[in-house]
Amino acid sequence: MNPKHGKPRARPHLRSRACSIAGVGSYVPTKVLANADLEKMVDTSDEWITTRTGIKERRISAKDEFTSDMAAKAARRAMKMAGVTGEQIDLIIVATITPDMPFPATACLVQQKIGARHAAAFDLEAACSGFIYGLEIGRQFVASRACETVLVIGAEKLSSITDWKDRNTCVLFGDGAGAAILRSDGAARGILTTVMGADGSKAGLLHMPGGGSRCPATMDSVGARLHYLRMEGSETFKNAVQAMCSAAKEALRRCNLDITQIHCVIPHQANRRIIDAVASRIGATPGQMFVNLDRYGNTSAASVAIALDEAVASGRIQRGDLVLLIVFGAGLTWGAAVLQW
Ligand code: ACO
Repeated sequence: MNPKHGKPRARPHLRSRACSIAGVGSYVPTKVLANADLEKMVDTSDEWITTRTGIKERRISAKDEFTSDMAAKAARRAMKMAGVTGEQIDLIIVATITPDMPFPATACLVQQKIGARHAAAFDLEAACSGFIYGLEIGRQFVASRACETVLVIGAEKLSSITDWKDRNTCVLFGDGAGAAILRSDGAARGILTTVMGADGSKAGLLHMPGGGSRCPATMDSVGARLHYLRMEGSETFKNAVQAMCSAAKEALRRCNLDITQIHCVIPHQANRRIIDAVASRIGATPGQMFVNLDRYGNTSAASVAIALDEAVASGRIQRGDLVLLIVFGAGLTWGAAVLQW
């Protein structure tokens, strides 16, 4: 509103537009940590990890390889696929719970690494749900014509907040990054709908107690191992299945689609048993589900981003295919998105 006259200002571009994913890319570190290696570190076994989680190995970044490095590598691959230069990017969103440092934002470090000097940049924190949250925020900027080109990245160095003495959690996580370039190409396809949700009353199920304003780092907090993630596994498991199923069903309902019309379902890669339970409850066949958890473990915000890139690169997703992404993470947070590739 014009404050002087109380009349609406002229707004030339009111009509929203569709938002496509013009390119995807991912990066995982070269170092492989297999279940057999973990057997030497904690009281566990390949058999326990495989049957309880489906994970066989995960990637661990080098000491001098940080979240922003992995994010930039994934971003460059997505930019190459989209035919976009750093100079053309208007906005960078990095979803992560393992930023290089509390501030500045990892997105700003990525901006510098990829030469995106015209881009605004910020991080978002929605744990394992971060990539879908980021896609939706990016979509809104493209749809409203506020931006032409948005780079959304999910990137994590979870090995830096993993308690390598806690067998309950250290077998689950890995490092990596995935990225997407969002643009409007004039077609109606792209991100068709997104569902997002959260429940802060269950924040304690999955959290890292130390390092924030509530518990800054002290000798005591470090000694008490408060700077590692903690999880109540079985409660998290139940909440994950329930939230992922309802988000997926709501996303399909909003698009007036049936699960049989979906070519590829990409769920958050946390646990094979969660994926199987979700598939069975939403009526998806094993052939519809994309799973790479056995090779990477849970990479949190990077999880569905890496999987989407691999599904496209391997030909599992073809132009025009309908894709359902489903996520769940700490917060609690959850979400689902329907894409037409
Ligand atoms: N090796 C051997 N034994 C183990 C291990 C291990 N690595 N870890 C736990 N155990 C033992 C436990 O101590 C317990 O022993 P007890 O019965 O003697 O006490 C037993 O195995 C069973 O433990 P549970 O925790 O009940 O095992 P469960 O079948 O629930 O599996 C798991 C645990 C894999 C963590 C599962 O609960 C899970 O996947 N939860 C959800 C994870 C998730 O979705 N996270 C969400 C996103 S992550 C994010 O946002 C960052």
